[in-house]
Amino acid sequence: MPQIESAGIEWRSSGQPVSTRFDDVYFSIDDGLEESRHVFLKHNGLPERFIRLEPDQCFTIVETGFGTGLNFLCSWQSFIQHAPASARLHFISTEKYPLTQPELQKALQLWPELESLSKQLTAAIPVSKTGFHTLSFDQGRIRLTLLLGDMQETLPQLNATVDAWFLDGFAPAKNPGMWQPELYQQMRALSHKATTYSTFTAARAVREGLAEAGFIVQKVPGFGHKRDMICGVLETPASETTETSIPIWLRPKAADTSEKKAIVIGGGLSGTASARALAERGWQVTLLEQKPQLAAGASGNPQGMLYVRLSHDNTVLSRFCEAGYQHAIHRVSQLLADKPERFSLCGVIQLASSDKAQQKQQRLAEAGFPSELLQAMSSDELSELAGISLDKPGLWFPGGGWVHPPAVCNALANHNNITVITDCTVNSLERKENEWLLATTQGKIKAPVVVVASADKACQFSQLAHLPLKPIRGQVSTLPATTESQKLKTVLCGDSYAAPESRNQHTFGATFNFREETPDIRAEDHQENLNQLERLSPSLFEALDARPEKINSGRVGFRCTTPDYLPLVGPVADYAQFEVDFAMLRKNARFPFRQQPNYHEGLYINSGHGSRGLITCLLSGDLLAAMISGEALPLSSDIVSQLHPTRFQSRAMIRNR
Ligand SMILES: Cc1cc2nc3c(=O)[nH]c(=O)nc-3n(C[C@H](O)[C@H](O)[C@H](O)COP(=O)(O)OP(=O)(O)OC[C@H]3O[C@@H](n4cnc5c(N)ncnc54)[C@H](O)[C@@H]3O)c2cc1C
Ligand SMILES: C[S@@+](CC[C@H](N)C(=O)[O-])C[C@H]1O[C@@H](n2cnc3c(N)ncnc32)[C@H](O)[C@@H]1O
Repeated sequence: MPQIESAGIEWRSSGQPVSTRFDDVYFSIDDGLEESRHVFLKHNGLPERFIRLEPDQCFTIVETGFGTGLNFLCSWQSFIQHAPASARLHFISTEKYPLTQPELQKALQLWPELESLSKQLTAAIPVSKTGFHTLSFDQGRIRLTLLLGDMQETLPQLNATVDAWFLDGFAPAKNPGMWQPELYQQMRALSHKATTYSTFTAARAVREGLAEAGFIVQKVPGFGHKRDMICGVLETPASETTETSIPIWLRPKAADTSEKKAIVIGGGLSGTASARALAERGWQVTLLEQKPQLAAGASGNPQGMLYVRLSHDNTVLSRFCEAGYQHAIHRVSQLLADKPERFSLCGVIQLASSDKAQQKQQRLAEAGFPSELLQAMSSDELSELAGISLDKPGLWFPGGGWVHPPAVCNALANHNNITVITDCTVNSLERKENEWLLATTQGKIKAPVVVVASADKACQFSQLAHLPLKPIRGQVSTLPATTESQKLKTVLCGDSYAAPESRNQHTFGATFNFREETPDIRAEDHQENLNQLERLSPSLFEALDARPEKINSGRVGFRCTTPDYLPLVGPVADYAQFEVDFAMLRKNARFPFRQQPNYHEGLYINSGHGSRGLITCLLSGDLLAAMISGEALPLSSDIVSQLHPTRFQSRAMIRNR
């Protein structure tokens, strides 16, 4: 697994960070803040271009070398001072050697005028692990996507159309690896005709590389003691068919509409997350839920665990879950900031329930995950953290915890651009005159874009009937807290889970029943949860005096799963037409198809979150809204393609089935 190495910082007496790895400064010793404004803002035509943005427009900056985040904070500050209120900034930055949170805090102390922004940044900075990490600030108006890892690997995974490039690696002579021809070609592939760039250096190799990639190169006075710097604009954008390793049938698809109106079907976590992410991008969203309130399906449990199962071999599933986990922690903390009783980031203990599980955990612990993400611990160490005695070793996830999922759904739906209609069942979808016409129990409702987030019920619509979504029944149980049980300070999980007390009760479970559709609470399922609880933690079982007659409530829900355990997030293709247009897949998986599939224009799905919806729905909602809006995607292309709804049909055809 690619590991993140430390930044290697030395501090000057002035408080300036210096990289010992590259023997170079992070910013000018003359005045870093003014340098950032001169080199990167002014010479990309900012803030004038911010002022001229249309309402709801998103401006995308990509930076090479996040460093201390100074350029990001300067851009954020300038954006809120100058851009129209509904315009948005997406700042994307690559970083191979991220600063730790304390290092970032120390470096940013140099700029008191940025204090309110730098505090928000340092509080939200993700655990350093390779991959894409998106943070959102100011109600989604400012987004920061960090591409952690070597830029040469992360940048080709970025799906974005960039408005301005900030080239800020260390000096080319000290860090030649960053200033390679691939960078300039990549820049061209991600740019449009008016895309600009600027950089502090005027090195010849950089000028030549940029010119060769089609950028105009202009030498202008540098900042402070630097004589020259360069900036310019792209003269010849790349043709539309940029080479990518992602098959054409698994690529993202933006909605082809000028009217930003969407309907979301389903008021659970995936529906409310999609609605919110669209609303934050300026869409007027109607959210339809068949039940009288939101979070009436799987998302309605009293306590859901924010925990992640990772694999040592860095699979797409593991990387997606890890990104979703960090994103969910960040978003839940923001969304429920005024409802601290509805969530707790108290940490999660994953107990090794068998020798095999222990070996798996050992492999994971040795795979090089940062200790802020997970640590292997003995039963004694875990008992200390849990506040109760535990008899097994396991993994400690300090960032995880539990949350009240209905509170998250309600907080997500609470946005001026979202209209919630409950008691509204959607019976069918029909495309008519560039719009979707929905037949519902409250009459016809229409919009150019529809997101189906109705879990396995998505398959009731003829356009989605082919998707392999299956329900799995699950029941959770609750027991009243006791003086002894209140000592539990963390979430416990293994083959089942148990949460610390919330509102005087503990939630634990949950059962798994395939092919069973009954929604009734069953005594035998409560018993199964009790048995699991006893295996998970005999001491908690005892502390709760856990007996069937003590169980005070329970709840049944249906997880919605897919065959590869990844959700379906993306556009919906016409199934029959795909069979015809991509028939060659049965003979030759590498056939050079030129055309995208025939999509049901404006129809998207966000479903199939299985047992992990708390960590995957929010990020998937953000991904889907970015895709629909044609904006930069918050996940790497290889992950995005593996979530594409067409993957099962194309895989079956490739296997000639
Ligand atoms: C027992 C149990 C325990 C779980 N524990 C955890 C956990 O600890 N951690 C974790 O990460 N995940 C957990 N999960 C999984 C997580 O709850 C789900 O992945 C997540 O809630 C899925 O959200 P969703 O919005 O996709 O589906 P749902 O929450 O089921 O939402 C779908 C919504 O669509 C509505 N709908 C359906 N058809 C229509 C229609 N035609 N018209 C209008 N509305 C319609 C439904 O009423 C429903 O409200 C658990 C799930 C279960 C069942
Ligand atoms: C001059 S500093 C950037 C300063 C930064 N923009 C700021 O506002 O503080 C250059 C950064 O590039 C990073 N870097 C160097 N080589 C890299 C690579 N190959 N891929 C990604 N980041 C790299 C360094 O770790 C360093 O943080």
